[in-house]
Amino acid sequence: MMNALSTLLAMRRVPVFNASMAGAAGVDLASAVSAAGGIGMLGVPSTPDAEALDSAGARLHNEGAVWGAGFLSFALETDLSPLTRVLAHQPSVVSLGFGRSDTAIAAVRETESALLMQVGNAAELEQAIDAAPDGIIVRGGEAGGHGRNEIATLPFLQLALERTNIPLFAAGGITTARGLAAVMAAGAAGAWIGTRFTVAEESEFPDAAKQRLVAAQPGDTVYTRTFDIAQRASWPPHYGGRALVNDFTDAWHECLDRLETRAQADDAFVADMIAARREARFDTAPIYAGEGSALMTRIEPARDIIEELAGFRAHLSDAASR
Ligand SMILES: Cc1cc2nc3c(=O)[nH]c(=O)nc-3n(C[C@H](O)[C@H](O)[C@H](O)COP(=O)(O)O)c2cc1C
Repeated sequence: MMNALSTLLAMRRVPVFNASMAGAAGVDLASAVSAAGGIGMLGVPSTPDAEALDSAGARLHNEGAVWGAGFLSFALETDLSPLTRVLAHQPSVVSLGFGRSDTAIAAVRETESALLMQVGNAAELEQAIDAAPDGIIVRGGEAGGHGRNEIATLPFLQLALERTNIPLFAAGGITTARGLAAVMAAGAAGAWIGTRFTVAEESEFPDAAKQRLVAAQPGDTVYTRTFDIAQRASWPPHYGGRALVNDFTDAWHECLDRLETRAQADDAFVADMIAARREARFDTAPIYAGEGSALMTRIEPARDIIEELAGFRAHLSDAASR
Protein backbone atom coordinates (compact mmCIF):
# COMPACT_ATOMS: atom_id res chain seq x y z
CA MET A 1 0.00 0.00 0.00
CA MET A 2 1.31 3.49 -0.86
CA ASN A 3 0.52 6.41 1.45
CA ALA A 4 1.75 9.99 1.78
CA LEU A 5 4.99 8.88 3.46
CA SER A 6 5.94 6.13 1.01
CA THR A 7 5.04 8.44 -1.88
CA LEU A 8 7.24 11.18 -0.41
CA LEU A 9 10.13 8.72 -0.12
CA ALA A 10 9.60 7.30 -3.60
CA MET A 11 9.96 10.81 -5.01
CA ARG A 12 13.41 11.27 -3.44
CA ARG A 13 16.62 10.44 -5.34
CA VAL A 14 16.97 7.39 -3.07
CA PRO A 15 14.29 5.82 -0.85
CA VAL A 16 16.54 6.09 2.18
CA PHE A 17 16.50 7.70 5.61
CA ASN A 18 19.68 8.10 7.57
CA ALA A 19 18.83 6.43 10.90
CA SER A 20 18.23 8.82 13.77
CA MET A 21 21.46 8.04 15.64
CA ALA A 22 22.12 9.98 18.82
CA GLY A 23 25.81 10.93 18.81
CA ALA A 24 26.19 10.59 15.02
CA ALA A 25 23.14 12.02 13.24
CA GLY A 26 23.22 15.70 14.11
CA VAL A 27 22.04 18.61 12.03
CA ASP A 28 24.99 18.53 9.60
CA LEU A 29 24.34 14.92 8.63
CA ALA A 30 20.55 15.37 8.41
CA SER A 31 20.99 18.47 6.26
CA ALA A 32 23.51 16.78 3.92
CA VAL A 33 21.38 13.64 3.49
CA SER A 34 18.29 15.73 2.69
CA ALA A 35 20.20 17.93 0.27
CA ALA A 36 21.58 14.86 -1.54
CA GLY A 37 18.11 13.36 -2.00
CA GLY A 38 17.42 11.09 0.97
CA ILE A 39 15.50 11.97 4.12
CA GLY A 40 17.79 13.38 6.79
CA MET A 41 16.99 12.45 10.38
CA LEU A 42 18.20 13.93 13.66
CA GLY A 43 18.99 11.44 16.42
CA VAL A 44 17.59 12.80 19.67
CA PRO A 45 19.19 11.37 22.86
CA SER A 46 17.27 10.82 26.10
CA THR A 47 18.21 14.20 27.58
CA PRO A 48 19.03 16.52 24.66
CA ASP A 49 20.24 20.10 24.88
CA ALA A 50 17.07 22.13 24.27
CA GLU A 51 18.78 25.05 22.53
CA ALA A 52 20.73 22.79 20.17
CA LEU A 53 17.54 20.94 19.31
CA ASP A 54 15.72 24.20 18.57
CA SER A 55 18.48 25.53 16.35
CA ALA A 56 18.73 22.21 14.45
CA GLY A 57 14.97 22.16 13.83
CA ALA A 58 14.96 25.82 12.77
CA ARG A 59 17.89 25.30 10.37
CA LEU A 60 16.35 22.25 8.66
CA HIS A 61 12.99 23.99 8.40
CA ASN A 62 14.59 27.12 6.90
CA GLU A 63 16.55 25.03 4.41
CA GLY A 64 13.23 23.66 3.16
CA ALA A 65 14.59 20.18 3.78
CA VAL A 66 12.56 17.00 3.83
CA TRP A 67 13.68 15.97 7.30
CA GLY A 68 12.73 14.32 10.53
CA ALA A 69 13.83 13.33 14.00
CA GLY A 70 13.89 10.06 15.92
CA PHE A 71 13.19 9.64 19.63
CA LEU A 72 13.51 7.07 22.40
CA SER A 73 9.94 6.36 23.57
CA PHE A 74 10.96 5.34 27.09
CA ALA A 75 12.65 8.72 27.57
CA LEU A 76 9.61 10.63 26.21
CA GLU A 77 7.46 8.89 28.85
CA THR A 78 9.46 10.86 31.45
CA ASP A 79 9.77 14.11 29.47
CA LEU A 80 7.82 14.86 26.29
CA SER A 81 9.39 18.29 25.77
CA PRO A 82 12.11 17.23 23.26
CA LEU A 83 9.34 15.96 20.98
CA THR A 84 7.11 19.03 21.30
CA ARG A 85 10.15 21.23 20.71
CA VAL A 86 10.96 19.46 17.43
CA LEU A 87 7.31 19.30 16.30
CA ALA A 88 7.19 23.11 16.48
CA HIS A 89 9.62 23.14 13.51
CA GLN A 90 7.29 21.01 11.37
CA PRO A 91 9.41 17.96 10.54
CA SER A 92 8.15 15.85 7.64
CA VAL A 93 8.46 12.74 9.77
CA VAL A 94 8.94 11.63 13.36
CA SER A 95 10.25 8.23 14.34
CA LEU A 96 9.53 6.60 17.70
CA GLY A 97 11.40 3.52 18.84
CA PHE A 98 12.34 1.56 21.95
CA GLY A 99 9.03 0.92 23.66
CA ARG A 100 5.67 2.49 23.05
CA SER A 101 4.57 5.89 24.30
CA ASP A 102 0.89 6.60 23.63
CA THR A 103 1.40 10.21 24.73
CA ALA A 104 4.12 10.65 22.12
CA ILE A 105 2.04 8.96 19.42
CA ALA A 106 -0.88 11.29 20.22
CA ALA A 107 1.39 14.36 20.11
CA VAL A 108 2.65 13.46 16.62
CA ARG A 109 -0.87 12.74 15.42
CA GLU A 110 -1.96 16.28 16.30
CA THR A 111 0.48 17.55 13.66
CA GLU A 112 1.06 17.11 9.93
CA SER A 113 4.25 15.06 10.55
CA ALA A 114 4.19 11.45 9.39
CA LEU A 115 4.62 8.86 12.16
CA LEU A 116 7.19 6.07 11.89
CA MET A 117 7.61 3.35 14.51
CA GLN A 118 10.77 1.26 14.82
CA VAL A 119 10.35 -2.39 15.91
CA GLY A 120 12.78 -5.22 16.67
CA ASN A 121 10.71 -8.36 17.20
CA ALA A 122 7.35 -9.93 16.36
CA ALA A 123 5.60 -8.62 19.49
CA GLU A 124 6.72 -5.04 18.83
CA LEU A 125 5.62 -5.44 15.20
CA GLU A 126 2.09 -6.44 16.28
CA GLN A 127 1.93 -3.48 18.69
CA ALA A 128 3.00 -1.12 15.92
CA ILE A 129 0.47 -2.55 13.46
CA ASP A 130 -2.20 -1.90 16.12
CA ALA A 131 -1.16 1.75 16.37
CA ALA A 132 -1.48 2.13 12.56
CA PRO A 133 1.46 4.52 11.95
CA ASP A 134 2.36 5.82 8.48
CA GLY A 135 5.33 3.47 8.31
CA ILE A 136 7.12 0.80 10.31
CA ILE A 137 10.90 0.38 10.51
CA VAL A 138 11.64 -3.32 10.70
CA ARG A 139 15.04 -3.63 12.40
CA GLY A 140 17.04 -6.85 12.36
CA GLY A 141 19.66 -7.91 14.90
CA GLU A 142 22.62 -7.19 12.62
CA ALA A 143 21.88 -3.46 12.99
CA GLY A 144 24.18 -1.09 14.84
CA GLY A 145 23.30 0.64 18.08
CA HIS A 146 20.70 -0.32 20.64
CA GLY A 147 17.82 -2.66 19.90
CA ARG A 148 16.84 -6.31 19.97
CA ASN A 149 18.86 -9.24 18.69
CA GLU A 150 16.10 -11.79 18.06
CA ILE A 151 15.66 -11.95 14.31
CA ALA A 152 17.76 -10.87 11.32
CA THR A 153 16.65 -8.20 8.86
CA LEU A 154 15.62 -10.38 5.90
CA PRO A 155 13.50 -12.92 7.82
CA PHE A 156 11.93 -10.07 9.80
CA LEU A 157 11.13 -8.06 6.67
CA GLN A 158 9.56 -11.12 4.99
CA LEU A 159 7.50 -11.82 8.09
CA ALA A 160 6.32 -8.21 8.34
CA LEU A 161 5.43 -8.06 4.63
CA GLU A 162 3.14 -11.04 5.19
CA ARG A 163 1.52 -9.36 8.20
CA THR A 164 0.68 -5.83 7.05
CA ASN A 165 0.11 -3.40 4.18
CA ILE A 166 1.58 -0.49 6.14
CA PRO A 167 4.73 0.72 4.28
CA LEU A 168 7.79 -1.02 5.70
CA PHE A 169 11.32 0.34 5.91
CA ALA A 170 14.11 -2.19 6.34
CA ALA A 171 16.89 -1.58 8.87
CA GLY A 172 19.94 -3.57 9.83
CA GLY A 173 22.93 -4.35 7.66
CA ILE A 174 21.81 -2.36 4.62
CA THR A 175 25.08 -0.78 3.64
CA THR A 176 25.51 -0.60 -0.14
CA ALA A 177 23.37 -0.34 -3.27
CA ARG A 178 23.19 -4.16 -3.41
CA GLY A 179 21.63 -4.36 0.06
CA LEU A 180 19.17 -1.59 -0.79
CA ALA A 181 18.19 -3.41 -3.99
CA ALA A 182 17.58 -6.61 -1.99
CA VAL A 183 15.09 -5.06 0.42
CA MET A 184 13.37 -3.01 -2.31
CA ALA A 185 12.95 -6.16 -4.41
CA ALA A 186 11.47 -7.95 -1.39
CA GLY A 187 8.80 -5.26 -1.03
CA ALA A 188 10.17 -2.66 1.39
CA ALA A 189 9.17 0.96 0.71
CA GLY A 190 12.70 2.05 1.57
CA ALA A 191 15.59 1.58 3.93
CA TRP A 192 16.65 3.09 7.25
CA ILE A 193 20.44 3.13 7.25
CA GLY A 194 22.61 3.85 10.26
CA THR A 195 26.07 2.31 10.25
CA ARG A 196 27.02 3.44 6.72
CA PHE A 197 26.30 7.05 7.67
CA THR A 198 28.41 6.94 10.85
CA VAL A 199 31.46 7.34 8.58
CA ALA A 200 30.01 10.23 6.59
CA GLU A 201 32.16 13.34 6.89
CA GLU A 202 29.13 15.08 8.41
CA SER A 203 28.60 12.42 11.12
CA GLU A 204 29.31 13.57 14.69
CA PHE A 205 31.44 10.49 15.40
CA PRO A 206 35.02 11.40 16.34
CA ASP A 207 37.55 10.80 13.60
CA ALA A 208 39.22 8.03 15.66
CA ALA A 209 35.90 6.12 15.65
CA LYS A 210 35.47 6.56 11.91
CA GLN A 211 39.01 5.24 11.33
CA ARG A 212 38.22 2.08 13.32
CA LEU A 213 34.96 1.63 11.43
CA VAL A 214 36.52 1.75 7.99
CA ALA A 215 39.14 -0.79 9.15
CA ALA A 216 36.53 -3.18 10.65
CA GLN A 217 36.31 -6.75 9.32
CA PRO A 218 33.49 -9.34 9.30
CA GLY A 219 33.00 -10.63 12.84
CA ASP A 220 34.25 -7.43 14.47
CA THR A 221 30.90 -6.51 16.10
CA VAL A 222 29.22 -7.88 19.21
CA TYR A 223 25.70 -7.50 20.60
CA THR A 224 26.28 -6.68 24.22
CA ARG A 225 25.16 -4.87 27.37
CA THR A 226 28.70 -4.40 28.65
CA PHE A 227 28.90 -0.66 27.90
CA ASP A 228 25.50 0.11 29.44
CA ILE A 229 26.27 -1.84 32.59
CA ALA A 230 29.67 -0.16 32.86
CA GLN A 231 28.06 3.31 32.70
CA ARG A 232 24.99 2.44 34.82
CA ALA A 233 23.04 3.63 31.77
CA SER A 234 19.26 3.88 31.80
CA TRP A 235 18.63 1.59 28.79
CA PRO A 236 16.04 -1.12 29.53
CA PRO A 237 17.93 -4.45 29.81
CA HIS A 238 16.10 -6.00 26.82
CA TYR A 239 17.77 -3.44 24.57
CA GLY A 240 21.44 -4.36 24.28
CA GLY A 241 23.52 -2.74 21.60
CA ARG A 242 25.70 -3.86 18.69
CA ALA A 243 29.14 -2.28 18.76
CA LEU A 244 32.67 -2.91 17.52
CA VAL A 245 34.55 -5.38 19.70
CA ASN A 246 37.39 -3.82 21.71
CA ASP A 247 39.55 -4.58 24.73
CA PHE A 248 36.64 -3.83 27.05
CA THR A 249 34.21 -6.29 25.40
CA ASP A 250 37.01 -8.88 25.19
CA ALA A 251 37.45 -8.58 28.96
CA TRP A 252 33.80 -8.38 30.07
CA HIS A 253 31.26 -9.58 27.48
CA GLU A 254 31.43 -13.18 28.68
CA CYS A 255 31.04 -12.30 32.37
CA LEU A 256 28.21 -9.79 32.69
CA ASP A 257 27.32 -10.84 36.27
CA ARG A 258 30.82 -10.01 37.45
CA LEU A 259 30.68 -6.74 35.49
CA GLU A 260 27.35 -5.84 37.11
CA THR A 261 28.78 -6.39 40.59
CA ARG A 262 31.89 -4.34 39.77
CA ALA A 263 29.94 -1.44 38.20
CA GLN A 264 27.53 -1.27 41.14
CA ALA A 265 30.36 -1.17 43.66
CA ASP A 266 33.10 0.83 41.96
CA ASP A 267 32.43 4.51 41.16
CA ALA A 268 35.91 5.03 39.65
CA PHE A 269 35.33 2.14 37.22
CA VAL A 270 32.10 3.76 35.98
CA ALA A 271 33.71 7.20 35.82
CA ASP A 272 36.51 5.78 33.66
CA MET A 273 34.06 4.47 31.05
CA ILE A 274 32.29 7.83 30.94
CA ALA A 275 35.67 9.62 30.61
CA ALA A 276 36.77 7.16 27.90
CA ARG A 277 33.75 8.15 25.82
CA ARG A 278 34.50 11.84 26.25
CA GLU A 279 38.18 11.35 25.42
CA ALA A 280 37.52 9.01 22.46
CA ARG A 281 39.56 6.18 24.05
CA PHE A 282 38.03 3.43 21.98
CA ASP A 283 39.90 0.47 23.49
CA THR A 284 37.51 1.11 26.38
CA ALA A 285 34.62 3.24 25.03
CA PRO A 286 31.95 1.87 22.66
CA ILE A 287 31.65 2.50 18.95
CA TYR A 288 28.10 1.46 18.20
CA ALA A 289 27.90 -0.06 14.71
CA GLY A 290 26.34 -2.97 12.88
CA GLU A 291 27.60 -5.84 10.75
CA GLY A 292 27.66 -3.55 7.71
CA SER A 293 30.81 -1.95 9.15
CA ALA A 294 32.75 -4.77 7.46
CA LEU A 295 31.77 -3.27 4.08
CA MET A 296 32.88 0.30 4.67
CA THR A 297 36.22 1.38 3.28
CA ARG A 298 36.36 5.16 3.51
CA ILE A 299 35.18 8.31 5.20
CA GLU A 300 33.25 10.29 2.60
CA PRO A 301 30.62 13.03 2.23
CA ALA A 302 27.00 11.92 2.76
CA ARG A 303 26.38 13.04 -0.83
CA ASP A 304 28.75 10.32 -2.12
CA ILE A 305 27.06 7.67 0.04
CA ILE A 306 23.67 8.65 -1.39
CA GLU A 307 25.14 8.57 -4.89
CA GLU A 308 26.48 5.04 -4.39
CA LEU A 309 23.14 3.88 -2.93
CA ALA A 310 21.33 5.29 -5.98
CA GLY A 311 22.97 2.45 -7.90
CA PHE A 312 20.34 0.10 -6.44
CA ARG A 313 18.16 0.69 -9.51
CA ALA A 314 20.79 -0.85 -11.80
CA HIS A 315 20.98 -3.93 -9.54
CA LEU A 316 17.18 -4.26 -9.67
CA SER A 317 17.12 -4.17 -13.46
CA ASP A 318 20.05 -6.65 -13.66
CA ALA A 319 18.10 -9.00 -11.43
CA ALA A 320 14.94 -8.58 -13.53
CA SER A 321 16.84 -9.53 -16.68
CA ARG A 322 18.48 -12.65 -15.18
C1 LIG B 1 25.84 4.89 16.44
C2 LIG B 1 24.39 4.53 16.43
C3 LIG B 1 23.51 5.24 17.23
C4 LIG B 1 22.14 4.93 17.21
N1 LIG B 1 21.29 5.69 17.96
C5 LIG B 1 19.95 5.52 17.81
C6 LIG B 1 19.05 6.44 18.42
O1 LIG B 1 19.45 7.36 19.12
N2 LIG B 1 17.72 6.25 18.21
C7 LIG B 1 17.25 5.27 17.40
O2 LIG B 1 16.04 5.18 17.19
N3 LIG B 1 18.08 4.37 16.83
C8 LIG B 1 19.42 4.49 17.00
N4 LIG B 1 20.28 3.63 16.36
C9 LIG B 1 19.73 2.49 15.61
C10 LIG B 1 19.27 2.93 14.22
O3 LIG B 1 18.05 3.61 14.32
C11 LIG B 1 19.06 1.75 13.25
O4 LIG B 1 18.18 0.82 13.78
C12 LIG B 1 20.31 1.03 12.80
O5 LIG B 1 21.41 1.90 12.69
C13 LIG B 1 20.06 0.33 11.46
O6 LIG B 1 21.01 -0.65 11.19
P1 LIG B 1 22.46 -0.37 10.49
O7 LIG B 1 23.24 0.33 11.55
O8 LIG B 1 22.96 -1.74 10.21
O9 LIG B 1 22.23 0.45 9.27
C14 LIG B 1 21.64 3.89 16.38
C15 LIG B 1 22.55 3.18 15.58
C16 LIG B 1 23.90 3.49 15.58
C17 LIG B 1 24.83 2.72 14.68
